Amino acid sequence: MLTVSLQRFYTVLRLALPRVSIKDVTYDGVVIPKGTVYFLNAWACNMDDAVWDYPNEFRAERWLENPDAPMFTYGLGYRMCAGSLVANRELYIVFIRLLNSFEIQKFDNVDCHPVSGCADPTSLVSIPKRYKARFVPRKLTALQKALGKFKVVEEVSS
Ligand code: HEM
Repeated sequence: MLTVSLQRFYTVLRLALPRVSIKDVTYDGVVIPKGTVYFLNAWACNMDDAVWDYPNEFRAERWLENPDAPMFTYGLGYRMCAGSLVANRELYIVFIRLLNSFEIQKFDNVDCHPVSGCADPTSLVSIPKRYKARFVPRKLTALQKALGKFKVVEEVSS
């Protein structure tokens, strides 16, 4: 519910990936010729007020109210993201581990808006502006024990 809500609100690839048609397509009486490049406006679909009440609001409980609600962040149809099931599980694991291990506190003033909060709103992939948050361990001894099982292979400089 949390992962799917985040993915609706923060559409990672707002125009999905470009696709080229392999045959003529007639839409609304207009012939769109073979070889046309199409973009799925995943952002507009995720923000469609015919589908969502108050689409500009982040409400994780939407999927409690409507578990079959559509979500367009992985694209659509035959060529939609081949890794969506893996990606959903990875995001779930990362979020659940972070929320379970840390109390995440505000540090910087963050612009959380899905467009104005982007480092570059024209980029194909939405990337947030850099910001800092404070991660306070919920139970330090349990965290140290869990992290002790991992080996640091590379130190990341800030
Ligand atoms: C949150 C993470 C991810 C997002 C938001 C995402 C999003 C997308 C989108 C929008 C497309 C284009 C779909 C379309 O044009 O209709 C795509 C294609 C694809 N994705 Fe992902 N993806 C994610 C993670 C992954 C992962 C983890 C894998 C592999 C393990 C993966 C593999 C692919 C592949 C192979 C395609 C091309 C599918 C095709 O052209 O038939 N993706 N993805």
